[in-house]
Amino acid sequence: SSTGLADRHGRVATDLRVSLTDRCNLRCSYCMPAEGLDWMPTDEVLTDEEVVRLVRIGVEQLGITEVRFTGGEPLLRRGLPDIVAQVTALDPRPEVSLTTNALGLARTATALAAAGLDRVNVSLDSVRPETFATITRRDRLHDVLAGMAAAQAAGITPVKVNAVLLRGVNDAEAAELLAFCLEHDYQLRFIEQMPLDAQHDWHRGEMVTAEEIFALLEREVVLTPADESRGSAPAERFLVDGGPATVGVIASVTRPFCGSCDRVRLTADGQVRNCLFAREESDLRAALRGGADDETIAERWRAAMMTKLPGHGINDPSFLQPSRPMSAIGG
Ligand code: GTP
Ligand code: 5AD
Ligand code: SF4
Repeated sequence: SSTGLADRHGRVATDLRVSLTDRCNLRCSYCMPAEGLDWMPTDEVLTDEEVVRLVRIGVEQLGITEVRFTGGEPLLRRGLPDIVAQVTALDPRPEVSLTTNALGLARTATALAAAGLDRVNVSLDSVRPETFATITRRDRLHDVLAGMAAAQAAGITPVKVNAVLLRGVNDAEAAELLAFCLEHDYQLRFIEQMPLDAQHDWHRGEMVTAEEIFALLEREVVLTPADESRGSAPAERFLVDGGPATVGVIASVTRPFCGSCDRVRLTADGQVRNCLFAREESDLRAALRGGADDETIAERWRAAMMTKLPGHGINDPSFLQPSRPMSAIGG
């Protein structure tokens, strides 16, 4: 069949986000507790071969044109360069990117570039070693910066940067982070914090909003909307001091963009999530390990889109956070 991943609200998913592990070597306070979480048992995590098979079905049968590998921390998967090489070898070739904390990227950037990785997004909330260590609970800023530089040098570009601002922790550093990214030709985006932390500590009043982010930046620079069609991109982009440099804001909470969503997610344990905030999942691993053929898996995947809700519901009084935390979804 040639029909893609359509939902009941007129949207079609063409962008597949694949979480490769729920584990991470950082402990960002807005994501997980200091002691970490109960990681998925190894036998429940898809093998490299299983991941590639599902992505192949997505690309060959379901119209997926972009594949993003996420985690936890995807660089913790030994087989990542091989997985990337097999996915970039698919026909039609999807765009392949990575969302990572960049720890260890200095070591693997060359192999990932050779495997065909197109671009990378790096989580970086501060360029001050002390603030970085406070947020991530690990003193690893230097390794992250080395990883970003290595990716850029290997031609895995653009390097985008994701920053979550926490009031009283790094919000005063917003303009400094922007200056750093402009200097290094990294594309910075500030992200409104979403209620997806494992601890369920999110409070609307503590979230640094897009409006506050604009105010913080406009003390130092002039922002004008970048004249471009945003499409389904979560980030709204702004020219900095007239351009060509830009800064993005991903305002999931105060300016939701669910109406143009083109995403579908696969968890490390082989479940389809039709939304970050989905309340139910579809088990492709069971089909895979039960010997189902490609057609059957594709059909189950299409069916999984039928329950995709029109919006995330964060702003509804009755909103309930999904039980799976960010680190096990992949953002
Ligand atoms: P690019 O296509 O490279 O711009 O990536 P991206 O910004 O879409 O993805 P990335 O993995 O870098 O995630 C940046 C932020 O956007 C994270 O906070 C993600 O959780 C968030 N994000 C990604 N996809 C979605 C989505 O479908 N809905 C919402 N609400 N947030 C998303
Ligand atoms: N809300 C918004 N973004 C988050 N991230 C992690 N936790 C949250 C959250 N609660 C970001 C990270 C990473 C991306 C995948 O998601 O900064 O870059
Ligand atoms: Fe790890 Fe990303 Fe969570 Fe930080 S935000 S602890 S890098 S999964």
